[in-house]
Amino acid sequence: MAKKLRVGIIGTGSIAHAHLHSYLKLADDVKVIGGSDIVPGKARAFFDKNDLPQAKAFDNNEELLACELDAVSVCTYNSTHAACTIAALEAGLNVLCEKPMSVTLDEAVEMYRAAKKAKKILTVGFQPRFDPNMDLVRDIVGSGVLGKIYYIQTGGGRRRGMPGGTFIRRELAGVGALADIGCYSLDMVLSAVGYPKPLTVSACAFDNFGKNPKHSRESDVFDVDDHSVAFIRLEGGIVLDFRISWAMHMDSMGDTMFFGTDAGLKIKPAAVNHAWSGAWDGTIGPMFLYSDVAGQHCETPIPLRNPSDDRFLLKVKKFCDAVREKGESPIPTIQSVYNQAIIDGMFRSSQLNKEVEIKIPKL
Ligand SMILES: NC(=O)c1ccc[n+]([C@@H]2O[C@H](COP(=O)([O-])OP(=O)(O)OC[C@H]3O[C@@H](n4cnc5c(N)ncnc54)[C@H](O)[C@@H]3O)[C@@H](O)[C@H]2O)c1
Repeated sequence: MAKKLRVGIIGTGSIAHAHLHSYLKLADDVKVIGGSDIVPGKARAFFDKNDLPQAKAFDNNEELLACELDAVSVCTYNSTHAACTIAALEAGLNVLCEKPMSVTLDEAVEMYRAAKKAKKILTVGFQPRFDPNMDLVRDIVGSGVLGKIYYIQTGGGRRRGMPGGTFIRRELAGVGALADIGCYSLDMVLSAVGYPKPLTVSACAFDNFGKNPKHSRESDVFDVDDHSVAFIRLEGGIVLDFRISWAMHMDSMGDTMFFGTDAGLKIKPAAVNHAWSGAWDGTIGPMFLYSDVAGQHCETPIPLRNPSDDRFLLKVKKFCDAVREKGESPIPTIQSVYNQAIIDGMFRSSQLNKEVEIKIPKL
């Protein structure tokens, strides 16, 4: 019988539960060895609550990384993704790091280089990648039916869906809505067009809801964006019009649209009437192809595929499979670097109030 994959979890907060439960569902092939959290006792309480008294728990990452492990999930808040990921890679482990990849482009570049040097897998946790309807978008765009794509509009919005805690403090989250849910929207459209290199970005960021006690229970400590818009130039003459929102007086931030020289593809938000509506998490709503047939303007509904019941489990499983088979990262690491480069550019541009260049070093 093949040896089980030995995994650990760094950061035992909310999303760590989803990682743990996914690993437990894969228990035939995977063994959870332990975890760590910088809050004393938190990792122990996490495993005890999940009926895993035999799991090792540490209040620092060094002791966890010294255990015999093959891989870790990095489930810390954004500002410590880079340090935890690099430490794990340097310890010779494969890493599934939660999204967004990091806070800055420099951090993402260091993470990429550390993975390359260690010859280990580093993948970022974009579970919508494993949704069959995201595959459908990629299949349609990849089929060439749209012709040359020159303009993409995407984003997503929650009418009310502002997180709290570690998500709204710059020191911990680094960036707000534009990274937290914006990274998904970026990944959705950019993976469909093969992740062209981003060149420039002009962005504006707002905090009208987060800083208002009427809408936020933590307005006094809120210091990230809750709504951002950007205009991004991509290699190959593609323009990306991006909008994202945690809270707004509107039902949607609009559809996701690919404009091509031969046809157009529109993806409507998945659940406009839901407070957390929008395509921000890659959940695909009704989809339509716009084309000319015999001189007539046609709008063709595209039947959706059956959505996967557990995209999160698939993301963890694909990571485990890749580690076991010594394969490639399920999501190419360079794509996550490009995703982060745009987030970094949007943040800088919104701070400087002007368009900025995106310079990705040679990798
Ligand atoms: N993929 C998804 O669906 C999804 C959903 C929610 C959150 N997330 C991502 O997961 C990450 C964590 O989110 P969360 O909601 O679990 O946050 P959280 O604040 O509940 O948990 C983060 C934990 O990390 C610990 N931590 C921070 N720095 C550490 C370090 N250096 N070493 C060890 N532990 C450390 C904190 O003490 C905390 O317990 C974020 O990056 C977030 O964007 C992803």
